[in-house]
Amino acid sequence: MRTDQDQPVRLADYQPPSWLVETVDLDVALHPTETRVRAKLRLKPNPAAPAAPLALDGDGLTLRSIKLNGAPLAAENYAATPDRLSIAQPPRRPFVLELETVVDPTANTALSGLYRAGDTYCTQCEAEGFRRITYFPDRPDVMAVYTTRIEAEKSEAPVLLANGNLTEAGDVAGTTRHYAVWRDPFPKPSYLFALVGGVLGHVADEFVTMSGRKVALRIYVEPGRESRADFAMDALKRAMRWDEEAFGREYDLNIFMIVAVSAFNMGAMENKGLNIFNDKYVLASPETATDEDYANIDGIIAHEYFHNWTGNRITCRDWFQLCLKEGLTVFRDQEYTADQRSRPVERISDVRALRAHQFVEDAGPLAHPVRPEVYREINNFYTPTVYEKGAEIVRMLKVLLGADGFRKGMDLYFARHDGQAATVEQFIACFAKATDRDLAQFMRWYRQAGTPEVAVTLSHDAKAATCTLEIAQMLPATPGQPVKEPQVIPLALGLVAPDGRDLPLRRADGRAVERGVLVLTRPAETFVFTNVPQRPVASLNRGFSAPIRLTANLNADDLRFLAAHDSDAFNRWQALQTLAVTLLIDNVKALRAGQPMRQDAGFLSALGAIVADTALEPAFVARALTLPTEADVARELGRDVDPDAIFAARNALRTAVGDALGPALRDIYRRLSVSAPYSPDAESAGRRNLKNVALDLLAASSGSAAIAIAARQYASADNMTDRMAAIATLSLHPVRERQAAIDDFYRRYQVDPLVIDKWFALQAAIPEAATLDRVKELTRHPAFSLGNPNRVRSLVGAFAMMNQTQFNRADGAGYAFLTDTVLALDGRNPQVASRMMTAFKSWRALEPGRRGKAEAELRRVAAAPSLSTDVRDIVERSLADT
Ligand code: BES
Ligand code: ZN
Repeated sequence: MRTDQDQPVRLADYQPPSWLVETVDLDVALHPTETRVRAKLRLKPNPAAPAAPLALDGDGLTLRSIKLNGAPLAAENYAATPDRLSIAQPPRRPFVLELETVVDPTANTALSGLYRAGDTYCTQCEAEGFRRITYFPDRPDVMAVYTTRIEAEKSEAPVLLANGNLTEAGDVAGTTRHYAVWRDPFPKPSYLFALVGGVLGHVADEFVTMSGRKVALRIYVEPGRESRADFAMDALKRAMRWDEEAFGREYDLNIFMIVAVSAFNMGAMENKGLNIFNDKYVLASPETATDEDYANIDGIIAHEYFHNWTGNRITCRDWFQLCLKEGLTVFRDQEYTADQRSRPVERISDVRALRAHQFVEDAGPLAHPVRPEVYREINNFYTPTVYEKGAEIVRMLKVLLGADGFRKGMDLYFARHDGQAATVEQFIACFAKATDRDLAQFMRWYRQAGTPEVAVTLSHDAKAATCTLEIAQMLPATPGQPVKEPQVIPLALGLVAPDGRDLPLRRADGRAVERGVLVLTRPAETFVFTNVPQRPVASLNRGFSAPIRLTANLNADDLRFLAAHDSDAFNRWQALQTLAVTLLIDNVKALRAGQPMRQDAGFLSALGAIVADTALEPAFVARALTLPTEADVARELGRDVDPDAIFAARNALRTAVGDALGPALRDIYRRLSVSAPYSPDAESAGRRNLKNVALDLLAASSGSAAIAIAARQYASADNMTDRMAAIATLSLHPVRERQAAIDDFYRRYQVDPLVIDKWFALQAAIPEAATLDRVKELTRHPAFSLGNPNRVRSLVGAFAMMNQTQFNRADGAGYAFLTDTVLALDGRNPQVASRMMTAFKSWRALEPGRRGKAEAELRRVAAAPSLSTDVRDIVERSLADT
């Protein structure tokens, strides 16, 4: 395991590799505790780099033998430690290095490198896991052609898979073992290497690419679970077709495989031709998966598949360029989902997630640029900023350049850089070249951390019939970046006339407003529009065209007007959110000052109008009825956060909404309670979502009648979405029906770990004082294990990330529980431990009492005798002053 002595890595220190690897021949003999790995590397000096000794990365390795050009290497000619293999004076020409190492997959609890998920052998090499298998220049700009021979006991691993195409398979004569040889003709970095061995069932299908090539498709799962992979297979085929249609990208090997494993640190991994997935993102049946699970599977299957071009065919030069593959691929999966489902609803979901994760990260001690300049542990940079803000940057490019310009830039990127390890500069240069634009200032989005604050003041001159927008942008200081420069902000807007129609945008200076987008580039600027006889309402940042915090001189009447009339569906939703957050913040402040909360009849009637608008799709209405979360309110408050006051204010508003819209909500519930067979399509899911949101609001207001309905829905549901929604509603109320449902749920699903995860998460999220003791007790439940990341995330993660009041208990006991868990987990699985630790990322925004308690816990972790690099990095950055 890596220790905390490691030096920080800096982008500015990048040097091309001194040695290149042309081919890698791996021969892996699987064994539960002593897997033997033979690696034959064809190395050559890099003509583009100065001559240097050979230094290969390792991580916890034991070298068994070493040969150079076929001859054993004398001990004085190399140095091998667990972390490094060096040859001081290698030949100055191409040579072959043969290495033998031995690894113990069963003891590998970090789930990086070669490990066992249950009884299945599998690998996870991104970012730096390949060095836990063999010594190698483990960096993404070293790309090689891999041939992998795997050998195993037939009974233990009848299925043997690796990247590429199968070239040979058979029995090992005179033994009970067999082997398979896979060859991947596409040069790739080591982080995309994968192998799998185990007892697995599969579903098979075929895809014919746009040029008419046949591709075999296989999804491997635990035997007996095959039918639960059907939806994933369907998603894969839709994703393959979409990438052809939307980006002209075709699949390139003869076979594409996905393997679902039960123990996985992340969601899924895009290994060339052999994606490995957390089984949570593959397996689905109506009885065990919710609509949300189906949507996640659809999006993640697509995401990993899309990496085949954005990540694999074109990879990253170094890990600082991570957003080059992840931000771009998130953008691509978001667009896929928007095309498959509802574009406005997808945008609302993506923006909610961006604000919930990325804005929060940007406002706290872990803020960093989309392309960081330094890291101590790369695993800690798979962040909302790299992913989600990274995707927003790509989206802004599309807004700025238009769909055609964007596509030209992407085409040029694929044409120029196929087969290469590229940089963000090279990516942006393709768009500049293809559209003949200067994107130098745009690059600041990659270099500056923080969420831009944009303030808009609209004024209207009736006599001149002009409307003026004064717009200022400001980027707050973030750790290590006290002073910032203005960024390029594409602000899509409309001026909405009193009759609800969009006015044509005519600028007084005669310049056009291309595609309805103002391009901000300076700290302050003024835009004058002519032919505006009556004061319009500005609809700003339509579709969330830029990832900014926006304030404008819009009053409550303006917001209600936009909620009812804006032609931009996103901004209709946004107007309601702004009204609700404003009300909630006022009421939190009132509660803190011992004053009564106010009601907002205008907000309630605006919501009522949305509910009554039958032209709106149910999924949109459901989003509109979903009030800002407690975390949303905390984020907008920004300081002196008291989670109990937020909870109380939000609960009061939920009750008020349930009261005010009661008849309409009951009508929705009745209307949408149909008994058609379950289908996971977006429209059906939207109707279920709206029905269940209505039920939850009714339970928040009227109590017992709605509780009885929820209990009935729980018992009679024929799908997990409705059953889960009912039990989630019950869980918010201390009623007899709640415990009965919790007990019943366990009995029904105890054989199904992924469903038991829902059971853990549900209980961890109950917002009441008894929850912490319940969670502690559940850590001793036979179904719980610190060894399985899904279990840890469902119980401990849900408690720390989803339960604002109980994690942030005033007595600090929630914080202490989390740090105890992190310390217990760190020696076993540092990646998951450090993720859990990010629950403290907003500790400085808390009111003084809780802030002190959180800081004490962070310091307790910092003082622990042996910490992984992962956790130490998060804790130290969380505590740092600037
Ligand atoms: N390449 C990542 C998986 C990964 C992340 C491996 C970090 C090693 C370290 C993969 O493409 C990915 O981004 N997965 C996401 C899901 C995706 C839909 C955003 C994940 O695993 O959370
Ligand atoms: Zn990814």
